[in-house]
Amino acid sequence: MGDSLGKRFRILTFGESHGKAIGVVVDGVKPGLDFDLKSVQRELDRRRPGQSKLVSPRPEKDRVEVLSGVFQGKTLGTPICLLIPNKESDSKAYDDLRDVFRPGHAGYGVLKKYGIRDHRGGGRLSGRETAARVAAGAIAKKELAKDGIRVIAYTSEIDGITAQTIDLEEIEKNPLRCPDRNAAKKMEERVIFYKSQGDSIGGIVEVLARHVPPGLGEPIFNKLDAEIARALMSIGGVKAVEIGDGFQVARLQGSANNDQMDRHGFKTNHAGGILGGISTGQEIRIRIAVKPTPSIEKEQETIDIFGGERRLSIRGRHDPCICPRIVPAAEAMVALVLYDALLCQKDLEERAGTLEEIRAEIDSVDRQMIQLLARRNEISAKIGRYKREKGLKIRDPDRERTLLKERMTWATEVGINRELVQDLFHRIMKTSRGIQRR
Ligand SMILES: Cc1cc2nc3c(=O)[nH]c(=O)nc-3n(C[C@H](O)[C@H](O)[C@H](O)COP(=O)(O)O)c2cc1C
Repeated sequence: MGDSLGKRFRILTFGESHGKAIGVVVDGVKPGLDFDLKSVQRELDRRRPGQSKLVSPRPEKDRVEVLSGVFQGKTLGTPICLLIPNKESDSKAYDDLRDVFRPGHAGYGVLKKYGIRDHRGGGRLSGRETAARVAAGAIAKKELAKDGIRVIAYTSEIDGITAQTIDLEEIEKNPLRCPDRNAAKKMEERVIFYKSQGDSIGGIVEVLARHVPPGLGEPIFNKLDAEIARALMSIGGVKAVEIGDGFQVARLQGSANNDQMDRHGFKTNHAGGILGGISTGQEIRIRIAVKPTPSIEKEQETIDIFGGERRLSIRGRHDPCICPRIVPAAEAMVALVLYDALLCQKDLEERAGTLEEIRAEIDSVDRQMIQLLARRNEISAKIGRYKREKGLKIRDPDRERTLLKERMTWATEVGINRELVQDLFHRIMKTSRGIQRR
C-alpha cells in the first residue's frame, strides 16, 4: 500500500534485500524520449555498496535491466520497469538473527504488523531498496535537466565536523561525499575510529535544488515542502528534515527571518526557496538528519521473538556511516518530487491556456460590462426624471466635456486605448441623452 509515490510521474518500488531482485515501475514517462540507460547506471554506481572502506563491503554490482517501456532506446509512454538483481546477498549471515530483533531496526514493528517477516538484511525495509528509487530518480533528473533544474546532495556534517566550503567538484572525489576536502579527511578519521570501536556514526546530508521555477507545489495537502519532507523521511535512517533555516527559525524574530524583496527579487533565502508550499524560484535548501547505522558489533541488549532477553553483536557487511550512500538516494527523492510537481504545474498552465478557457474569461467580462451598462441606463433615467422635475435642460455640454476628459484620464491610467474610450463614451452619452428625454 505504501510502495508508490507521485501523481503525474509515479513510481512503485518492489523487492527485498535478500530476494531475487529489487526494482521499480515508473509510470507517466512521455513517449518518444531518449532513454539513457547509462545515466541510470551511473546513478546506481554512485549508490552501490563496496565503493570504499567507509561503506558496506557487499560486492553488489547493481546492474540495471530494463523489462518494459523502452523500445530501440526510446520510451514508449508505457510503464518502464527497471530491475536490479540481488546477486551477492549472503543470507547465511542472517541465520543467527532469525529469531532476534536487531536494535535500531524495524523487525519488531514488522512482525507485529504483518505477523511474518523476512529477517534477512532488513527485507523490504533494507537500505538496498533505495537502489530502486535511485534508478527512477535518474529518469526524473534527466527530465528536470531539460528545464535547467539540478539537484545536488552532499554530506555536510559528521560527528560535529562540518563542511566549511561547498565545492561541488569535490563531492565525488572523497568517499564521504563531502564538498570540503579538509573536513572530509577529518570526517573519514572519525568514521574509521567508530568502526574500529565496533560502532557507527550519524550525520547531516544537505540537498540543493537549483533553477527550480517559481510556482511548483500543490497547496494545501501537497505543498512542495510537505512532499519533499515526506519523500526524504521515507528513506531508511532519515530522522528529520529541515527546509531553509529549519529549526533555527524558532529562535529568530520575524524581521530577521523574513526574506525581504526589492526590484531584483528576494534579498535573502531563509525560507529555503519555498513559501506557502510553493517554490519561489530561489534555491531550494534542505537538510536531513541521518541516524547512525543500527547494525553494530558493539554488544547490545535486545529480545527474541519469544520475549527472551538476549545480548547481540552484529557482524557482517554494514555501512559504518550511511551518509555517503544516502546522498544519491536523497537527490533521487527530491528529483522525483520536483519532476512530479513540474508536470502538475505544466498541466495547470496548459489548462489555463486553452482557447475555450480564455474565451470563457472574455465572455464573463463582457457579461459584467453589459450588466454595468444596464445599471448605468437606470441611473440615466433617474437623472432624466430629476431634470424634468426641476425644468433643467437635458443636454449639458460642460458636464459632457468634463466627463469625457475624466474618462480619458482613467483610460490613460490603466493603459487602455484612448480612442476606444472616446468612441465608447460618445456612444454612451448619446444613449444616455435619449433615455433622459423619454
Ligand atoms: C543507502 C542505505 C544504506 C544503509 N545501510 C545500512 C547498513 O549497512 N546497516 C544497517 O544496519 N542499516 C543500514 N541502513 C539503515 C536501515 O535501513 C534503517 O535504519 C532501518 O531500516 C530502520 O529504519 P529507520 O532508521 O528509518 O527507522 C541503510 C539505509 C540506507 C538508506
